[in-house]
Amino acid sequence: MIRVGIAGIGFMGMIHYLAYQKIRGVKVAALCEQDPKRLSGDWRSIKGNFGPRGEIMDLAGVSRYRDIDEMIVDPRLDLIDVCMPPAWHPEVTVAALEAGKHVFCEKPIALNPTDADRMVRAAERAGKLLMIGHVVPFFPEFWFAYQAISSGKYGAPLGGHFKRIISDPTWLPDYYDPRKVGGPMFDLHVHDAHFIRLVFGMPRAVHTVGTMRGAVAERFTTQFLYDPPLMVTAAGGVIDQQGRPFTHGFELYLEKATLLFDYMALPKLGDAVTPLTVLTDGGRASRPKLGSADPVDVFAAELKEVVRSVRADEPSPLLAGELACDAVVLCKKQTESLLKNRVVKV
Ligand SMILES: NC(=O)c1ccc[n+]([C@@H]2O[C@H](COP(=O)([O-])OP(=O)(O)OC[C@H]3O[C@@H](n4cnc5c(N)ncnc54)[C@H](O)[C@@H]3O)[C@@H](O)[C@H]2O)c1
Repeated sequence: MIRVGIAGIGFMGMIHYLAYQKIRGVKVAALCEQDPKRLSGDWRSIKGNFGPRGEIMDLAGVSRYRDIDEMIVDPRLDLIDVCMPPAWHPEVTVAALEAGKHVFCEKPIALNPTDADRMVRAAERAGKLLMIGHVVPFFPEFWFAYQAISSGKYGAPLGGHFKRIISDPTWLPDYYDPRKVGGPMFDLHVHDAHFIRLVFGMPRAVHTVGTMRGAVAERFTTQFLYDPPLMVTAAGGVIDQQGRPFTHGFELYLEKATLLFDYMALPKLGDAVTPLTVLTDGGRASRPKLGSADPVDVFAAELKEVVRSVRADEPSPLLAGELACDAVVLCKKQTESLLKNRVVKV
């Protein structure tokens, strides 16, 4: 049995807790949270831009810590799952690795490439696993696209467009603070930067146009520059219409198929969805049957990969720290490009 301690019981800590309950061979043995109400099991103040709201929880049998330094040295724990705000990721991850724990840390790995690199090197030094919670490849539609591209089933990729837009997450303190959360570029778009890096490799340069809010990028479109014929763009950021809390989707071009997917959470109207659709030559269009897109199931799929990796004591290719570092490098270059209004080499 793998025993995990979750650090930070906000939206993600709660979703991870719920998702672990669906997986065999792992047990949430400890939680760490600075808010006494949440630590006691009153999770009603927790919310995010998708998934369930928090409820009153029965946490009997789960060790509770207010101080993260105490939880990471708990000898009964094998894995520390870091769900604290990004500013905490480097310090807590490095300390947990040095205390002999494997670490699964939420995205973004860190708010700058130097800290991200430090985390990867700490895992190498400690001989422990570091996995970063880039969940997007575990969404069934993105999983289909990842498989389609990496298998070459529809020929070489020609490029595509990605979209990830949210309304203002007013419940998150410090969202626009570059040293604490990093704004929409590092909090939100980093998912697409990671997926683009995963399926297309690192671009040679980026060109981003957009708007700033204080010191962080607020809304932006990026062209990722590869050698032709590959052409990739992504739009991301915050638009202040609370009626549409979350959108993501893509249109991907391969030599022998186009893949379409669009999802928009519309709480007042019901979600607007274009299910994953495959357009192939000869005028054919099909909608493959996919696994559950329920958010808790998607996170459970990601956590199953964490458990598999810990059990086998082998790194997970999808959750690799190095890939997560590259995603942060891209976000940094994109912000630089937006500010300088020119192409920036990667
Ligand atoms: N993969 C995804 O789709 C996804 C979605 C949302 C958030 N996230 C990531 O999850 C992480 C957390 O985000 P969130 O939305 O859950 O934030 P949140 O603010 O809802 O939760 C963070 C929790 O950490 C606690 N905390 C902060 N500092 C602490 C400390 N020193 N000791 C103990 N507890 C502390 C806070 O009290 C809070 O309850 C971020 O890295 C974020 O980017 C990922």
